[in-house]
Amino acid sequence: MLKCHGLMRPQISQVMKQSVNALAGNHVVIRQSSDLPKLPAPQPIKTLKHFLDFAQALQSKKEFEETKSIVNDFVSNDMPKLQGLLQKRADALPNWLTPWWLNIAYLAARTPLPVVTSPGVMFPKFDFNTPEGQLEYAAKISQAAIKFYLLAKNDQLKPDMSGKSPLDMSQYKFLFGTTRVPKVGVDEIKYGCDYKEKLQHIVVIRNGHLFQVQILDNNEQPLSISAITQQLEKVVAESQTPNPHPVGIVSSDGRDKWANVYTSLKKDNNNVKSLETIEKALFVVCLDKASDPPVGYTEKDEQSRQALHGGGSKVNSCNRWFDKTIQFVIGTNGYTGMTYEHTPAEGPPVGALMDYICDQFDANAFTSTGPSSGSSVQKLDISTNEEVNKRIAKSSKNMDRIAEDLDIVAFTFKPYGKNFPKSSKISPDSYIQMAYQLAFYRIHSSLPPTYETATLRKFTEGRTENIRSPSTEAASFVKKMVSKPPTPVSEIHDALINATNTHKKYTVDCMNASGMDRHLLAWKLIASENNLPTPELFGSNIYQQLNHFQVSTSQVPTRHFIQMCFGPSAVDCYGICYNPQETELHFMISTFKSYGSTSSKKFAKELQKALIDMKSVINKSTKEMSKL
Ligand code: COA
Repeated sequence: MLKCHGLMRPQISQVMKQSVNALAGNHVVIRQSSDLPKLPAPQPIKTLKHFLDFAQALQSKKEFEETKSIVNDFVSNDMPKLQGLLQKRADALPNWLTPWWLNIAYLAARTPLPVVTSPGVMFPKFDFNTPEGQLEYAAKISQAAIKFYLLAKNDQLKPDMSGKSPLDMSQYKFLFGTTRVPKVGVDEIKYGCDYKEKLQHIVVIRNGHLFQVQILDNNEQPLSISAITQQLEKVVAESQTPNPHPVGIVSSDGRDKWANVYTSLKKDNNNVKSLETIEKALFVVCLDKASDPPVGYTEKDEQSRQALHGGGSKVNSCNRWFDKTIQFVIGTNGYTGMTYEHTPAEGPPVGALMDYICDQFDANAFTSTGPSSGSSVQKLDISTNEEVNKRIAKSSKNMDRIAEDLDIVAFTFKPYGKNFPKSSKISPDSYIQMAYQLAFYRIHSSLPPTYETATLRKFTEGRTENIRSPSTEAASFVKKMVSKPPTPVSEIHDALINATNTHKKYTVDCMNASGMDRHLLAWKLIASENNLPTPELFGSNIYQQLNHFQVSTSQVPTRHFIQMCFGPSAVDCYGICYNPQETELHFMISTFKSYGSTSSKKFAKELQKALIDMKSVINKSTKEMSKL
């Protein structure tokens, strides 16, 4: 499961075992969406230099000598042909990576969407705790989201920027009306923006029952809050008891299992209509029942559980349809959020949507009068047979096991925010990444292969690259931090500056299409597509080690207090989504309890210590310098 934040590593290797030819671009609509540059093929020399550096950070001298010889062989034997083929592909396509990426990272992956592939997102706590409040906030969030949909649809969003470079905006249009339809082998993505007809409805789920609810009138004007609320009241009236056969829970299971059920459901004409209505819904709203945090966890932690998986089949997991790109999750006590299916878009466009909704609340910009609903709420009945009911029971158990196993905590670091590294002339993102390295080392006495998402949206159709850690400079910094006897602070400070500068430089490389990971993937895929032997490099221990991520991270910055979260990409991994704000740093940390040697709370504690110690090193060393 790899997704933007490294969640796909195991899935890549799993998918590699299948015929790669079958995957190339099958379900991907390629659009030349903008005037942005095409993604260029990276330079081999740079990629292999990075490979050696990242290998050296993790290997002994003897192991590293062997790695150098494997790389030399690759350069002499396989590389020229593979690079030539890649160059041809890069010349022919607007983006040589994205069609591969969509399939390998997402559509061909067979593992369940929650909790690793589909992130959860949390709004700040809102001020309601009554059933009426739940409906009011559901209506307001829906209306605000639909206004954002219209802005995206009509190209009225201001382009995102990275410094002075505009970023590809196509992902915004993919957010709405989109569904990842389960298919055996490789799923299909149906984008809302590809339908010829106007989409005017959303789907509301309550107690596991699904309803079609109108959200736009025939002139594509958002319905008034009262018109939406009236429909939600009808939903409540018609969903008083739990659905005994909530088939949506199977969308939380392995994709082939769900695909088989989907096919079987489609044998019934009425089901076909209901499924089509769900596929074409602009988004889903889940009206949830109350849920309490497990012992030892906070309400904020519980909010993230609801956004990621719904708390298990006895709580709200049966109140989801995991194929839909956007599901707003509306609790009963002010906690709300989103479960989002990752295939069509990265976190930042989702963060921008959430920020926009918060802005609408701040400005109380809701339309309370205006178009009312022309059509009545429609219950979407889906008939199931005995076999499907058995699958529902099994998928419920599977979801319960996953929900129980995930240890997720919200952690806000309050002593300072990105203001401190900035004032010390250090990139905040690089600084935080070094804190992860240090925290991990202090717990496990080793350095973790680490994934961090970098955006490739400077290029047309761009998705992501991986900003890897540790580098040799990061390894040196961490070892100086923990050395006994202690290393002088000025030396540690220098090591931190070197490590963060190296990380930042690599970040810039990644964002400019000179990263290592996607290039190696390309060589591997193109060899397979052309029936060439898999180069020895890809079977080497170091390649395997580098692709077993023990820390999987993603930065999703927002203006409001919005947090994203996701599960770890491997059983022994930490999943960390972070939102560095000016005076505080927000982290969501996840691990699997079943692994036993990782703990989200322990990591949060070590992260706090690492961030405090790093500031102390900088302050002490700066003071010493000023005395000279
Ligand atoms: N001295 C002082 N200030 C510095 C600095 C330095 N040496 N280096 C950076 N800064 C400043 C920047 O100017 C910026 O200022 P701002 O807050 O006023 O905008 C701020 O510090 C943050 O910069 P930095 O921490 O270096 O990184 P970034 O914000 O550029 O983010 C990535 C880096 C890699 C996270 C980002 O480029 C990216 O790719 N984001 C997308 C990730 C994604 O897709 N996530 C979702 C996956 S689902």
